[in-house]
Amino acid sequence: MLYSIYRKSEKLILVKMRWYTFLLISILTTRSISAEIYPKFPKDFIFGVSTSAYQIEGAWNVSGKSENIWDHVTHNYPSVIEDRSNADVACDAYHNIDNDVRLIRELGVDSYRFSISWSRILPDGFSNNLNPDGVRYYNELIDKLLANNIQPFITLFHGDLPNCLQLLGGFTNIKVADYFVSYARLMFDTFGDRVKYWTTFNEPKNFCARAVWGNSEQLTVAENISPYLCVYTVLIAHAKAYEVYKNEFAHQNGKLGIVLDLLWAEPKTNSTKDIEAANRIIEFEFGIYANPIFSKEGDFPTIVKDRVANMSKAQGFEESRLPALTKDEINLIRSSADFLAINHYSTRLISDDSDNINISISSQANDVAVISSVDPSWPTSEMEWLFYVPWGFHKNLMYIKNKYDNPSVYITENGFCEKASNDQGRIKYLQGYLQVLSDAISEGCNILGYFQWSLMDNFEWFAGYTKKFGLYEVNFTDPKRPRKPRASVKWYKDFLLNAKSNV
Ligand code: BGC
Repeated sequence: MLYSIYRKSEKLILVKMRWYTFLLISILTTRSISAEIYPKFPKDFIFGVSTSAYQIEGAWNVSGKSENIWDHVTHNYPSVIEDRSNADVACDAYHNIDNDVRLIRELGVDSYRFSISWSRILPDGFSNNLNPDGVRYYNELIDKLLANNIQPFITLFHGDLPNCLQLLGGFTNIKVADYFVSYARLMFDTFGDRVKYWTTFNEPKNFCARAVWGNSEQLTVAENISPYLCVYTVLIAHAKAYEVYKNEFAHQNGKLGIVLDLLWAEPKTNSTKDIEAANRIIEFEFGIYANPIFSKEGDFPTIVKDRVANMSKAQGFEESRLPALTKDEINLIRSSADFLAINHYSTRLISDDSDNINISISSQANDVAVISSVDPSWPTSEMEWLFYVPWGFHKNLMYIKNKYDNPSVYITENGFCEKASNDQGRIKYLQGYLQVLSDAISEGCNILGYFQWSLMDNFEWFAGYTKKFGLYEVNFTDPKRPRKPRASVKWYKDFLLNAKSNV
């Protein structure tokens, strides 16, 4: 009996201890998790997920859609794609509106960023032939998003130029700016009664680097000039589209911006040369678009103008390979945005390479003359250029605040590349990057929204389907393209439930 009483009280103590220990552990862990995982955000901050038309829609030639440059390249030159694939079907988002809107709603986001396929809406590239099925498709998507309380956030151009316009020289042809403006006007007119967030171009740096791509055995044609002609066309097209929006559609009360990407450039050493080199690559890749639109004085950054002019002269060109903006153009482009949208993924170390310039090569890379590297201690992803460096994101945000007088900013892409379903790398990345985003807001940066890239795995351009950026995993061998949540879906949901209640 004694023995059993003893055993009983021992058991009780044990049970009590377990209960207290459990309580203690849960208090400790909840505290540390919530402090670590759920940084604070303002109440009206917009959270979302991001995709783009060519990467997810599929239905490449359905109901009147014409060929775009990526259809053309993947069909005719499959060897340039890592797994020789194409996005003919991709995630088949075209046939999955209901399901995808449900996934987006279940995440608990406020907004969905997607792009419109120009060649689905205007198969000839020009505004005289509007494809009714294209209008039907985006109307259906927009209406279903709104019915679920999700704001559409639309990009007009995410890399997929109608191939017929590429045959006219694509963005190296300044007339394409006018065709873009006609397309933009039509989109404001058709969808603008319901869409309040517009961006013109996604990452011009990237598509301008291969402005001659689409038609395409000649991947290197006019490589020395075409990126700069493309920069010029993009800026004029963007500014004219902004003008159209403000003059003709102001009553729609929407906002329009442009999406620029910036891998943070950190000087490799403290030497003046490396510091200047890091600044130089930021100006060539980012300032070349941001300065004309967001600086007080407008125009291209002086360092870019001077450097290309000097190099061009030394190379025997009659004028700079970078077109000069006229006074009227500078005025047209300056302040032509309600916000700056930023895609940010990672950071690199920059050192100066000016001593090795080969003057006989006239290329943008030679104009910039830097060497890019990474720190071997940075955690890697499955994408060769993507490393986990949250402090670089912080520097990037502070740079924009200080350089461009604290503009309104939306982060339209940020995300990690990892295959595994329990994607701990992606979760860690989101934790780290959202924390510094929250810090930057507390330090006065005027950041209004954040979109994770991407809702689901998709066609990752030259990497085909080999690289996975999705919160949802997509089975690309199943004709139905089922989506399966990775662990980060739960993480992002929990984060969203808590993020705004913390203020
Ligand atoms: C692009 C996306 C792309 C992502 C990951 C961004 O530069 O806008 O289309 O999938 O990076 O590579």
